Amino acid sequence: MGALAALNPFFWKYRGRLALGMLFVLLTNAFSVFAPVVIGEGINLLESAYTVFLAPLDAGRPAEDVFSNAPLAAPPTLSTLSRWTGLGTAPFDAPQSREELVRFVTFIAGMQALLYMLAYLLKGVFSFMTRQTIIVMSRLIEYDLKEAIYDQYQRLPSAFYKQNATGDLMNRISEDVSKVRMYLGPAVMYGMTLATMMVLTVGVMLRIDPVLTLWSLAPLPLMSLAVYKVSARIHQKSDAVQSQQSLLSAKVQQDFSGIRILAAHRREKRATQRFESAADEYKFRTLDLVKVDAMFMPIIVMLVGLSTILTIYVGGLRVFSGDLQLGHIFQFVFYVNLLTWPFASVGWVTSLVQKASASQARINAFLEVEPSIANTAEAPSEIQGRITFKDVGLTYPDSGIRALDGLSFDLEPGQTLAVIGRTGSGKTTLAQLVARLYDPTDGVVEVDGQPLKSLHLPSLRGAIGYVPQDVFLFSDTIAENIRFGVDHAEQAEVEQAAKNAHVHDNITGFSEGYDTLLGERGVNLSGGQKQRISIARAVLRKPRILIFDDCLSAVDTETEAIILGNLRRIMEGRTAIIVSHRVSTVRDADLILVLDEGRIVERGTHAELLEIQGLYADLHQKQERSSPEGPA
Ligand SMILES: Nc1ncnc2c1ncn2[C@@H]1O[C@H](COP(=O)(O)OP(=O)(O)O)[C@@H](O)[C@H]1O
Ligand SMILES: [Mg+2]
Repeated sequence: MGALAALNPFFWKYRGRLALGMLFVLLTNAFSVFAPVVIGEGINLLESAYTVFLAPLDAGRPAEDVFSNAPLAAPPTLSTLSRWTGLGTAPFDAPQSREELVRFVTFIAGMQALLYMLAYLLKGVFSFMTRQTIIVMSRLIEYDLKEAIYDQYQRLPSAFYKQNATGDLMNRISEDVSKVRMYLGPAVMYGMTLATMMVLTVGVMLRIDPVLTLWSLAPLPLMSLAVYKVSARIHQKSDAVQSQQSLLSAKVQQDFSGIRILAAHRREKRATQRFESAADEYKFRTLDLVKVDAMFMPIIVMLVGLSTILTIYVGGLRVFSGDLQLGHIFQFVFYVNLLTWPFASVGWVTSLVQKASASQARINAFLEVEPSIANTAEAPSEIQGRITFKDVGLTYPDSGIRALDGLSFDLEPGQTLAVIGRTGSGKTTLAQLVARLYDPTDGVVEVDGQPLKSLHLPSLRGAIGYVPQDVFLFSDTIAENIRFGVDHAEQAEVEQAAKNAHVHDNITGFSEGYDTLLGERGVNLSGGQKQRISIARAVLRKPRILIFDDCLSAVDTETEAIILGNLRRIMEGRTAIIVSHRVSTVRDADLILVLDEGRIVERGTHAELLEIQGLYADLHQKQERSSPEGPA
């Protein structure tokens, strides 16, 4: 329950709607409780018309006797209304003959029916307004919550995403928020309805007859309990159904995306069998749920039936003993039915609140995570592009792998650094440290002589064009994918960037050109095309610092040479870090670092490194020999 307190500021934010909603709930229920009063009065009138007048007349008593005996009065509600509205009581004068009596009763019955309809009409209007205020409020808070959670997603560093499963994180913003919304909307609304309805109805019932009230209401708490138990079972079973459902769709999705591999390995039969067993389990769980579900209504109907029977039986006895009028029994039967839903919803609302509370606790825990990489500087700074590593080391916290150790170098603005080394030697880690996707565990990374931890983070990231090793393109048009990193870019700029990345001709080759959709519903690009679009995205930003993480690996050496040539032109005066495992990519760099197991084993220019006849020279020789174009 405590977790839900985090939502109180939201209630306060929308306090106007909440207060209006409460008022509407009160009005809705007031009219619900009022309508049966009118019915009860009508029946009481009919009863007295018969017993006091018609029965004696039929028995042969003289009319003067009967009518002078006791005057027949209009029902309390009608007389009160006509007094309030100043209409006078003329139509309600006590009848003096059989004809007058019939006319009187017909008129009053019509009026009562009108009042009843009016009450229900108003009840409907206010119940509409209740939803328009409270449910709307819950949707607004839901929106705010989702925004807060999404903001937090954006603040959290990549390490956080490595440690938490994607599906689990998705649940915060979808499942958990919708459970909380059930508390904000329905639970609050039904909770208030429950409270006002009970007070109003039970109040009216007690005023009429406390004894009958006790008898009528006796079975209802039993119903609350039963509904609570049954809905807890239903929740539990439907969770089981849900999880099997997600398992099933995950399985299908995986089989679809891996369909080629599936076919190539002739696993179709196996896949079908596995699907069948998962689908069987799903069917089994659904049938289990349906069984419990089917108990819900019968329990309610049975207990309401019991209440109704008790009301009629005990009420009848009290009418015989003269403690009660016939109309009141009808009124009570209405009330018992009115109270059904509130009593039933006690159990339902309780389980809603419990679920919401568990979800909100998870959301709170998520929102309280402090990002390990956060901006500490107030003022933005102009980045020049000088990069310094001072004895930098990094041990990944989750795997304990020492990815970098004792790295030092200094790169002037406008220089190009190349990093070469085997897979797993720490090249990507180095690139990520410059963009401050991770903080080093030892040493300092500086840009423009300032440690990254104290540098304005948005300025740093804004100055960097980072092309990651694993290219990511959005399911959007090619143009939008290239434009992704900037707020606005003209088509000409987009095309220029694509030309620099040497992918323009490929793009114009598609029938839709730059408007070609990528991803699930669009075309599939080759690895090299993806890499070059990713490069176009980075160069469009004209970054002060450009980082290429092995993003030319799927591009042939000829295209690579063209792209690198373009880069030299557009990166004039700007800093570049080019990671590769190919000598051809790095040969023209101002400084080449050869990494092995996280350490710099060789450093220098291409010529210097060939001179020392080490790892680099080895690599050079091997690659020259195997290159299809022969020695360059
Ligand atoms: N996010 C990570 N968490 C834990 N270990 C990692 C992570 N990323 C890389 N590593 C490990 O760090 C080492 C260096 O990796 P990386 O920098 O990707 O090398 P390269 O880019 O040269 O192939 C590898 O042993 C790798 O398994
Ligand atoms: Mg890498």
